[in-house]
Amino acid sequence: MAKVSDLVILLVAGMAISLYIQVAEARAVKFDIKNQCGYTVWAGGLPGGGQQLTQGQTWTVNLAAGTQSARFWGRTGCSFDASGKGTCQTGDCGGQLSCTVSGAVPATLAEYTQSDQDYYDVSLVDGFNIPLSINPTNTQCTAPACKADVNAVCPAELKVTGGCKSACVAFQTDQYCCTGSYANSCPATNYSMIFKQQCPQAYSYAKDDTATFACPSGTDYSIVFCP
Ligand SMILES: *[C@@H]1O[C@H](CO)[C@@H](O)[C@H](O)[C@H]1NC(C)=O
Repeated sequence: MAKVSDLVILLVAGMAISLYIQVAEARAVKFDIKNQCGYTVWAGGLPGGGQQLTQGQTWTVNLAAGTQSARFWGRTGCSFDASGKGTCQTGDCGGQLSCTVSGAVPATLAEYTQSDQDYYDVSLVDGFNIPLSINPTNTQCTAPACKADVNAVCPAELKVTGGCKSACVAFQTDQYCCTGSYANSCPATNYSMIFKQQCPQAYSYAKDDTATFACPSGTDYSIVFCP
């Protein structure tokens, strides 16, 4: 027969295991993606797919429990046929209305990761197309934004129609991409500083370490295009 002390050990172990499962199991999270631009934006989401948003429209993406990361971006100048095939001027995801692959560069990104808490950032690492913000429903948490029109100050060598490439995308060098001899130590460059100056809360290059924000688990988010 089991001793009382054995039963206590079993009970404590059982509680610890159930607590571990609760902590480890990723939560469902809701993202409301809203277009405040004065033009139509085709939102892209991985996961989520994509949706056309005319000015003022909102698309809700529910991340199922167990989803550990997500990215959202806006596409511009799209036209799709009735089956959802077509093309976009910026952010195109393999010619599909409903994205299953990342968008073409350059595109402003909203990135989200679920861990011990939520981590999120606005990224210009691949360049910029439209302004956006990430807004946690928990108002104690930072709502980072890139509100500036970076296209308006984009150097000619980075400019594309509707967007501004990062120097990494444009020149593909170790210095601008923080690869090779720059993998461990990668200072800002004249190009990344243009992005940083316009949008101080956003990642301006791969090793920009001042741009990730955290929020306790349990919050939902809205992402606003042209905040
Ligand atoms: C950035 O620096 C590079 C290398 O020194 C130079 O060729 C380029 O013109 C500079 N660009 C800007 C926008 O300052």
